[in-house]
Amino acid sequence: MRIRNRRWLEPWEGAPEAQGQVSWEERHGVGVFLALLRALRREARAGRGFPFAVTYEDRLVGQVTAANVVRGAFDSATLGYWVDQEVAGRGVVPTAVALVVDHLFDVVGLHRVEANVRPENAPSLRVVDKLGFRCEGRHERYLFIDGGWRDHLTYAVVREDVPQGLLRSLTSG
Ligand SMILES: CC(C)(COP(=O)(O)OP(=O)(O)OC[C@H]1O[C@@H](n2cnc3c(N)ncnc32)[C@H](O)[C@@H]1OP(=O)(O)O)[C@@H](O)C(=O)NCCC(=O)NCCS
Repeated sequence: MRIRNRRWLEPWEGAPEAQGQVSWEERHGVGVFLALLRALRREARAGRGFPFAVTYEDRLVGQVTAANVVRGAFDSATLGYWVDQEVAGRGVVPTAVALVVDHLFDVVGLHRVEANVRPENAPSLRVVDKLGFRCEGRHERYLFIDGGWRDHLTYAVVREDVPQGLLRSLTSG
């Protein structure tokens, strides 16, 4: 699915600058995927990350991952998300993100969740807007994406913003 979605995903997904010479197909081999799965599970066991598969009509269609989990006085995480182009535009990711954020606030006990979005990424800006995330500012040359260091807007939500939960706030409009 991700190989088929290359043109859809590549402009928006970060990859280490040093990986520039590795092709999209090579980055999506079975061995690479299994290593990624192991790494995600290791992060999850250590409480540093919360990876979720997104399904729609019983089919795997994407991922929502909370990474960079910092506990203590910060209690914050960074979200990443994508969905198969075939099911885009049906509110799958806003719903999945709301479920994940509610889990992070209510079960894990985090206080803040952020998402970093390129200003050119109109669909993703719609996602944070629908969810009511606040724009906290612009980071210059923030992440290495699609061959260059790209500016990003940081959006965030804190627990006090959604006392009834983010899913309820999303579905009640
Ligand atoms: C951003 C993304 C995750 C949104 O997921 P989604 O489940 O489609 O979200 P929504 O259904 O709420 O659609 C969001 C907006 O996308 C746009 N959209 C709808 N259908 C679309 C389609 N087929 N193709 C492109 N954009 C579309 C619309 O502007 C929509 O806003 P609207 O509901 O106000 O019309 C998805 O577009 C995606 O995976 N993009 C590529 C990877 C990416 O950008 N990840 C995020 C990096 S920050």
